[in-house]
Amino acid sequence: MTSQRLRLGVNIDHVATIRNARGGRMPDPVRAAHLAEKAGADGITAHLREDRRHISDEDIERLSREIALPLNFEMAATQEMLDIALKARPHAACIVPEKREERTTEGGLDARGGHNHLKPIVQRLAENGSRVSLFVEADRAQLDAALSLGAPVVELHVGRYCDLVGDGDRAGAAAELKRLREAARHGAEIGLEVHAGHGIAFDTVGDIAAIPELVELNIGHFLVGEAIFIGLEAAIAEMRRLMDAARAKAA
Ligand code: PXP
Repeated sequence: MTSQRLRLGVNIDHVATIRNARGGRMPDPVRAAHLAEKAGADGITAHLREDRRHISDEDIERLSREIALPLNFEMAATQEMLDIALKARPHAACIVPEKREERTTEGGLDARGGHNHLKPIVQRLAENGSRVSLFVEADRAQLDAALSLGAPVVELHVGRYCDLVGDGDRAGAAAELKRLREAARHGAEIGLEVHAGHGIAFDTVGDIAAIPELVELNIGHFLVGEAIFIGLEAAIAEMRRLMDAARAKAA
C-alpha cells in the first residue's frame, strides 16, 4: 500500500554555506525557509555541525522562532548538540554521524554499535518533545537497533543509490534500489516511520518517491544548486511535482 502524501523537508544548510563563504548575513537561510514554505515544502531541515561550517547557532534560534513549518534539527550525538536541541525544542531531531568512528561501513549512523551511547540521547530528546530519527543505512540490523533504541523514525541514507545513478552504473543502482525498498518495507513492518535523504536530485527522486513505505524525503544540496539556475521556489516546486507524479504512478 502506498502511504499518505510524501512530505518534503527542504534542507537549507547550503544557503548558509554560500553566506559563510563571504561572512556577513547574505544569503539568509531563514529567508530560504520562508520561500521553501511558499513553494510547497512540508518542513525545514538544518544541520548544526560541530564545526559550524554552514548553519550557525543563531540560525537555529531564528528558525525556531520565525518559521511556521516544523523544524527538523540534524545533530551529532554529542552533549553540546543535545543541550542545544533541548533548548530549541525542534519538532524533530535527526541524529547523524559526523565522525568516521560513528558511521557504519557505508556511511549511516552506527545505531547498533553505538547503542549504549545513543540510548540516553534518544530518550532525553523524546522526553523533551522532539520526534527522534536516526540516519541509517538500508540495513535490517540498523533498523532493528533503531527500534530497540526507542527511535520512532529512521531516515534511510540514499546517497549511495544517487551516486550510482550519477555514475551511470545501472546494475549497481538497481541493486541498491532493491536494498532500499527491502529496508523501507522492513522498517514499516517493525513499526518505524521511514524517511529518506542525501544526494537526491531530479533524476533520482522518482524511484525513491515510488517506494511506498516512505513518508518523508529530505533534500538540500541539489535544490540550492538548482536555485542558481531556475530559482529556489521553482526548484522546490519541480521537486514536489516529481514526488507527487511518482507517488501517483506507483499507487
Ligand atoms: N538527510 C540527512 C540526514 C542529511 O544529513 C542530509 C545532508 O545534510 C540530507 C538529508 C540532505 O542531503 P542533500 O543536501 O545531499 O540533499
